[in-house]
Order: sequence, then structure tokens, then C-alpha cells
Amino acid sequence: MRVSANDKVNVAVIGLGWPGQRHLDGYAATPFVHVGAICDMSDDLLTGTRTARGVERAVHHYEDVLAMPEIDAVSVCLPNWLHVPVSIAAIGAGKHVLCEKPLANTLAEGERIAAAVHASDRIFMLALNNRFRVEIQALKRIVDAGTLGEVYYARAGWTRRKWAGLSGWFTDKAKSGGGPLIDLGVHMLDLTLWLMGSPRATRVSGAVYDRLARELHPSGTFDVEDLAAAMIHLDNGAAIALETSWMSYTEREYIYSELLGTQGGAKFERGNNRNDAGLGDMPPFQLFTSLAGEPVNAEPVDIALSPMDRLLASFANETRHFAECVRDVTPPIATVDQGLEILRILDAIYRSAAEGREITISRR
Ligand SMILES: NC(=O)c1ccc[n+]([C@@H]2O[C@H](COP(=O)([O-])OP(=O)(O)OC[C@H]3O[C@@H](n4cnc5c(N)ncnc54)[C@H](O)[C@@H]3O)[C@@H](O)[C@H]2O)c1
Repeated sequence: MRVSANDKVNVAVIGLGWPGQRHLDGYAATPFVHVGAICDMSDDLLTGTRTARGVERAVHHYEDVLAMPEIDAVSVCLPNWLHVPVSIAAIGAGKHVLCEKPLANTLAEGERIAAAVHASDRIFMLALNNRFRVEIQALKRIVDAGTLGEVYYARAGWTRRKWAGLSGWFTDKAKSGGGPLIDLGVHMLDLTLWLMGSPRATRVSGAVYDRLARELHPSGTFDVEDLAAAMIHLDNGAAIALETSWMSYTEREYIYSELLGTQGGAKFERGNNRNDAGLGDMPPFQLFTSLAGEPVNAEPVDIALSPMDRLLASFANETRHFAECVRDVTPPIATVDQGLEILRILDAIYRSAAEGREITISRR
């Protein structure tokens, strides 16, 4: 690639909320990356981040970042409805893009960005940080080695008892694209499909509710679901049961992906990202198999990082991978087409729930 004058990949981060800060942490930990600019419409966030991190250029409008010739690549860490227009503008301006999940707030928007990426020679990567957890990378190697045999069923979910952060664009369907399904479900559905070798969905049955949201209504628009579940059938004959919620009368927050194969099973489970809800001693993942006919459970022994450090490391690994792809002109492991496949499934779940029938997924 064209490497910047300072011989580093020169990046800008657009959107400086929690994920934007994690992208900045990741880039700061990557020696061959230089953060040349940051962007956020919030003055406080922009000034505070610039002061804390010593970035040369700080601007309020993303168009100003895209006009900077020295910037090679951008992280798009903006609210969902801005992912597509800003990513397309960035590609048009010759920038490589690392875009936060979900790919888009609708399937049609997802198809728009996919077309733009395919028509361009710029690198586009979807920021699916859970793939970059050290424990998931280890689990992926174990699954790819055939240890579980044929994986024919999986259950995955992210269900919250109550999310205090519900506000703003998250609960406005026109801006977010949906509720916990597109917010949290994207993470666990992507992770599970990827661990299974990225089979494609064939048909979907969905159930979507807003029963608690109607009563515990935060101020402002709330026209998204508060709970969604689905049975997703895949082209290799396997199926995934998926469940997500922002609020539900469940014991605690559950975040999990469990694969069931002909020779073994594997479970990734964790507590709350931020405080781990007292579940810090959970194993990074577990394996279930049988040896000489005896049922045996196993867990990794040398993943020493704490749950929070594993989460933070996932962002550092993700941003480093993106920067390596830009530097070496290699394809990223989290692609626009995989992001689009997730949107296809989500779209089918919402349609299935609205129409009260199973949806067969069609592809052009
Ligand atoms: N990978 C993860 O674990 C993870 C975690 C949280 C959020 N996310 C994703 O990251 C994205 C951002 O989420 P968030 O919680 O930071 O949202 P947010 O509402 O905090 O927005 C992020 C920032 O974008 C800024 N912004 C909004 N519109 C802008 C514009 N037009 N120009 C410049 N700045 C603008 C806001 O001021 C804010 O600081 C979402 O798509 C979300 O799905 C990913």
C-alpha cells in the first residue's frame, strides 16, 4: 500500500464513544499505526480525547477527515444509521474502512455498502471484536481441527435482565434498525456462524416482543423490540437457536455461544462486559467430549487474562488485524459479505415475526 510519510498506517477514528475509545486504545498499542485525526460532533468528547491522547487533528465533521490526504484508513464508530453513508463516503475518498457492527441498519443499506465495497479496491472490515478474543481464537482453532466432529446444532444468545443505558438512537428503529437483536444478537450470531465455518442461512422462524418496553418506557421514541428469538436453519443442515433481550425477567445477563457436534461440544459463556457480575472465574471456554467412552469436560489452562482484559485485548487484536490488512494489502477475516449475511438473517427474523410464518431466505 501507499504508506504515509511517517512509514506508518495513518488512521482516523470517527465517533469517540465507548467503541471509538477502544479503537484508539488498539491503534495506540500497534507500533506501525499512527492516529492522525479524530472526529466527533461532541465538543467535550473531541477536546477531552484530543488532550488525553495527544492527537494532532480533531474535527467535528467526518467530511473534514475524509478530505485529509494523509489519512489512509478510518474507523467508523458512529451510530448504526451512519455506518453506510460514512463508509461509502470514506471509500469514495480512497480510505480503507473498519466499520463498527452492525454493517447497516437495514438489509437494503447493507446491500448498498456491499456493492460499494465490491466495486472498490479499498479494504473494508467489519469490527466484530468478539472474533478477536484470545479464547475465541483458540476455540476457533480447536473447532477447525475437527475436534467437535460435525457441528449440527448451536445455541447462542445475549439476554439482559435490564439495560440501564437505553436511550437516544438505540430505541429509534429508523436509526438503529432494531433493538437487542441488531445490537447484541449481531455479536453472538456472527460469532456462532464463524465458529461453525460460515454456513449460509436457508430459512428462519422468528419471535419478537416489546412487552416490557411498553411499561418501562424510557423517554423518547421506543419502537424497537425488547426481546427477540429465532430458529435459523443453515445450508449444511445445522441450525442455530438464537435469543436476545435488553430487558427480561431472567436471573442475570447471559452471553453465550454453544456448539454441539457429533464428537464433542464447546461453550463460550461470560457475564457482563463491564463488571462481569461476579462471574469473573468462569472458564474462557469449555469443551465437552468423551474419552474411551467416558464423558469428559475440559477447559483451557493458559489463557491468563482476566475477563475484562480479554475484552480489551479483543479490540487491540481487531484493530491490529485491520491495520495489517491495510499495510500488507490482505483481505480481513471479517468481511462485508459476512456482515450482509447477518443482516439477511435479521431481516428474515423480523419479517417472520411480523408475518407469523417461516421465511425462506432468497439471494440475488
Ligand atoms: N463492538 C462493540 O463491542 C460495540 C460496543 C458498543 C457499541 N458498538 C457499536 O458502535 C457504534 C457506536 O456506538 P456508541 O455506543 O458509541 O454510540 P454513541 O451514540 O455514543 O455514538 C458514538 C459517537 O458518535 C458521535 N456522533 C454521532 N453522530 C455524529 C456525526 N454525524 N458526526 C460526528 N460524530 C457523531 C456521538 O457524539 C458519539 O460520541 C454503534 O454502531 C454500536 O452498535 C460496538
